[in-house]
Amino acid sequence: MNSDQPLLVATGVRKVYRTGSVAVVALDDLNLAVRHGELVGVMGPSGSGKTTLLNCLSGLDGIDGGRVEVDGHDLFAMSDAARTEHRARTMGFVFQAFNLIPVFSAVENVELPLLLVGTRPREARRRALDMLDRVGLGHRVEHRPSEMSGGEQQRVTIARALAGRPAVVWADEPTGNLDSAMADQVMDLLCELNQDEGQTIVLVTHDSAIGARVPRLIRMRDGRLVEDVHQAVTTPVAIRDLPLG
Ligand SMILES: Nc1ncnc2c1ncn2[C@@H]1O[C@H](COP(=O)(O)OP(=O)(O)OP(=O)(O)O)[C@@H](O)[C@H]1O
Ligand SMILES: [Mg+2]
Repeated sequence: MNSDQPLLVATGVRKVYRTGSVAVVALDDLNLAVRHGELVGVMGPSGSGKTTLLNCLSGLDGIDGGRVEVDGHDLFAMSDAARTEHRARTMGFVFQAFNLIPVFSAVENVELPLLLVGTRPREARRRALDMLDRVGLGHRVEHRPSEMSGGEQQRVTIARALAGRPAVVWADEPTGNLDSAMADQVMDLLCELNQDEGQTIVLVTHDSAIGARVPRLIRMRDGRLVEDVHQAVTTPVAIRDLPLG
């Protein structure tokens, strides 16, 4: 991985959905570069193309024009199988719906993607337990999703997204199903992973309080990127860091 190069480069990306005789241009000449270690928020009205951006730039969905490079590889120049493999190796996902497997415990949910890419069971279990600990769920590893709060379930999905040490985590409205206290906890965790570990994260949100917490905020309208700002974010200062006297 060459960290001088942007991790992700999207150039002139176009996406058109055709439903019967209606064509919707969901992404229109979209250009975006994301560097290693960035936390990028994506905002914009409903229907402006935020989810489409995430799906197309991660290669979950195809594109109708342009080019997307992730970690030096042209996503749409590779075969479907190679793209799936590349995605499993370099990307983690967190969605609004937690998408956890109900009959699996927290640790089984987190280790599953590792097992699918061939990680040895013992190593997968160790990493899953580490990640659950990292997201503050060391005491819930045997719980099933129905036995956890919404915020805890979303932290399991974050542990799952991170377990394979992805280059980039894509999150689409990760706090959309949570009350504001839980949403704050999940946002704190994502900010911390970005600040402390340099995890690259692209985060779709419609919540302007969340938008205010990210160092870089892009805005979309009608499938186009209409604003791209770097902003000062206030990091909560721990009491011990305050100067005394
Ligand atoms: N599978 C699909 N088939 C046809 N049209 C689609 C499909 N998915 C999205 N669209 C259309 O593409 C446009 C962009 O949709 P998208 O889901 O990316 O918006 P969004 O910004 O994520 O909105 P929201 O904030 O409501 O989640 C919309 O006009 C939508 O109706
Ligand atoms: Mg959406």
